[in-house]
Amino acid sequence: MTGAGPLGRNLVIGLIWAGMVTAPGAYTQPVNPEDGAAWSARGAEITRPFKKELKAALMSAMADGPATAMEACRLQAPAIARRLSAAGIEMGRSSHRLRNPENAPRDWVRPLLAEYVADPARRAPRVVRLAINRIGYVEPITIKPPCLTCHGTSVAPTVAAKIHLLYPQDQAMDFSPDEFRGLFWAEFPLEVHP
Ligand code: HEC
Repeated sequence: MTGAGPLGRNLVIGLIWAGMVTAPGAYTQPVNPEDGAAWSARGAEITRPFKKELKAALMSAMADGPATAMEACRLQAPAIARRLSAAGIEMGRSSHRLRNPENAPRDWVRPLLAEYVADPARRAPRVVRLAINRIGYVEPITIKPPCLTCHGTSVAPTVAAKIHLLYPQDQAMDFSPDEFRGLFWAEFPLEVHP
């Protein structure tokens, strides 16, 4: 019987600890700078193919006009994210002004997004420790001239109509070049250490 007590206690403590760190919105921060730099590099590496494929899909679809490109964005962005999400790795895009409500920020992303919005000086890639053995990575997204076709102040009426049809709750119009648009996020296991 002697081992049961401490084992049980450890289990309870472990469960309480797990509960604390996985509570909605809870994350432990800061991570030490050395690990932070390595995890940030890993996060950048994970999001790189997502960004690249998204850009390629958008560019080739834009050749057929913005209405077709919109379909590419709508269908391909989540499909690319799903395909690249494997072995405990997940990624996506989010924003403070969403076009698609399905891109709403996860609990751990929300405070980081709020910081990006509030303070331009903090718009750099960031990492946080998530629930036990997972890392969260975010990277800011800025509006470039080609984005204005579908997110700018003078979107063509046909394009705007299509956007309103597909996204009745759209909040992602009226952006200007260089304006903060949102973020890429990735989650990956701690074992995936460079
Ligand atoms: C052809 C039109 C089009 C162009 C050009 C375009 N987007 Fe989008 N964007 C969309 C659509 C449609 C969605 C919704 C995609 C979905 O359903 O996930 C979207 C979603 C997003 C999201 C995800 C968050 C949200 O609001 O749902 C971000 C971030 C984003 N766009 C940034 C950009 C940036 C940066 C550029 C320029 C490099 C760009 N977009 C160019 C149409 C476009």
